[in-house]
Amino acid sequence: MTMQEAMAARHTVRSYTDRELPEEVCAQLWARIQANNDLCGLAMSLVTENTDAFSAPLKLVLAKGVRNYIILAAQAGKDTGDTEEVLGYCGADVMLYAQTLGLNTWWVGGTFSRKGVQKNAPAGTGAIAGVIAVGYGAEQGKPHKSKRPEDISSYNGAAPDWFQNGVAAVLLAPTALNRQAFTIRGDGRTVSMTCHNGRFSAVDLGIGKYHFELGAGKENFTWA
Ligand SMILES: Cc1cc2nc3c(=O)[nH]c(=O)nc-3n(C[C@H](O)[C@H](O)[C@H](O)COP(=O)(O)O)c2cc1C
Repeated sequence: MTMQEAMAARHTVRSYTDRELPEEVCAQLWARIQANNDLCGLAMSLVTENTDAFSAPLKLVLAKGVRNYIILAAQAGKDTGDTEEVLGYCGADVMLYAQTLGLNTWWVGGTFSRKGVQKNAPAGTGAIAGVIAVGYGAEQGKPHKSKRPEDISSYNGAAPDWFQNGVAAVLLAPTALNRQAFTIRGDGRTVSMTCHNGRFSAVDLGIGKYHFELGAGKENFTWA
């Protein structure tokens, strides 16, 4: 499965089987996480066979069988103004990579147990922006209700294929409360993108930009 195919196949999955992640899969996930950490100065990490990411009541009703998760955080003391957008961007890379390995995921920015996750975070982990639950899903999830391309985008003149493909990819991305609160504008080979989704605006924007690049092809445009 390519990363492009992973965008279409990925849906939020909140229930997981008890199948452990094989060693090889853990190693592949860790390598991808490390590559992103090195590139962007982050401290994302993978926690396996651990059920502390959700409170007991939530585990009963929603977060069923979550036993592995990726912690989304910068290095302690290295938070910059754009950390959340970078975590959205890099987290999206790891999330879609997990899908190519046959795994399912669930991005959680609000309803995780901060205390439980903190307890399992490696030394040097900064402020935690969320977690991505990862594992073998009890199901594959289903496509979310979606806005239309014209609801979130405009292009000066006739939109080229790469722009339309980029917008279509953004509409596949996970967003907090499924808001898809993006505004994407294209002019020639320049694209701008903003997101207004309350406290999750920056994370959603990073996820959205990653999807746009995968859909449009980075070689076809530059960010404004
Ligand atoms: C930044 C962010 C935060 C999220 N926070 C939560 C959360 O706290 N609880 C939850 O159940 N889902 C959360 N989600 C998952 C979204 O509800 C889900 O991605 C959205 O409904 C779209 O569905 P899809 O992922 O299947 O495309 C979050 C997603 C994102 C991107």
